Amino acid sequence: MARNKIALIGSGMIGGTLAHLAALKELGDVVLFDIAEGTPQGKALDIAQSGPVEGFNARMSGANDYSAIEGADICIVTAGVARKPGMSRDDLLGINLKVMEQVGAGIKKYAPNAFVICITNPLDAMVWALQKFSGLPKNKVVGMAGVLDSGRFRHFLAEEFNVSVEDVTAFVLGGHGDTMVPLARYSTVAGIPLPDLIKMGWTSKEKLEEIIQRTRDGGAEIVKLLKTGSAYYAPAASAIEMAESYLKDKKRVLPCAAHLSGQYGVKDMYVGVPCVIGEGGIERVIEIELNKTEQKAFDKSVESVAGLCEACIAIAPNLK
Ligand code: APR
Repeated sequence: MARNKIALIGSGMIGGTLAHLAALKELGDVVLFDIAEGTPQGKALDIAQSGPVEGFNARMSGANDYSAIEGADICIVTAGVARKPGMSRDDLLGINLKVMEQVGAGIKKYAPNAFVICITNPLDAMVWALQKFSGLPKNKVVGMAGVLDSGRFRHFLAEEFNVSVEDVTAFVLGGHGDTMVPLARYSTVAGIPLPDLIKMGWTSKEKLEEIIQRTRDGGAEIVKLLKTGSAYYAPAASAIEMAESYLKDKKRVLPCAAHLSGQYGVKDMYVGVPCVIGEGGIERVIEIELNKTEQKAFDKSVESVAGLCEACIAIAPNLK
């Protein structure tokens, strides 16, 4: 059986980490693409040379021409600019929207059957624009945000409770980062919901609020520390989890920025919701009932994503 072809559009910090993880997990042969000459080629060669040491079989190549992604089974998009200290994700909108137009055209021409995972920020607006620019089916274009946001939440919770991260689950909805909506009653330690853990004295309501705020600001905290760019290990690991579910038809239930066509009362927007990812792409959007407080937070999040989509339309009216 032929190996999967994994195209990475953008070969910067996240792109390089994606390539390394895909190789280590033997998910398929990897093509790194970038407009910067030499970067994808150099990273491909470097990772390929770790193959004999690590013992993986995956062909690695780098390219500056979209024809190299021809026939890709999956495309993971990180092309664009990343945040610097003091910048919000939304500050990236104008530049990255233009990048999405080019990337969308490249995917449309050479990899129209691929499952596309977008990571470029501001995520919820960029994945929405990328789907429109590429013309690919809506269930085949998805944004990576929720796995990362819940990963951050799970890490902080596991630290607070002094238990394994493996036994902490988190349920998040809504836009990426700042407007993320964590659902405490569906977030658990080995099935015990957070409100019960508060009652059991494992943590306090105030401490939980602090953790939620730190999760929302998780990206900015790292930007501030790194000074020259934004997070890349956890974003890459999160996208690889989604890619693996598609390539192996695992049908994982993961929070993703998915296209909504009425679910949660939202139409023609990408917002973070729990989804089933399998060979059909986004096979199902799971719709749960929200209580008043959750609905209010979700609506606020949707409103901020809608504002970003409006800003995109002001720059590129053809997105309407
Ligand atoms: N086409 C292809 N690649 C491009 C284009 C383009 N039009 N414009 C820029 N790139 C490439 C850059 O050359 C660079 O190698 O995208 C890469 C981005 O890499 P980094 O700057 O290292 O950014 P990274 O940390 O990987 O983050 C990428 O993901 O999480 C988001 O906010 C983050 O939007 C950012 C993206």
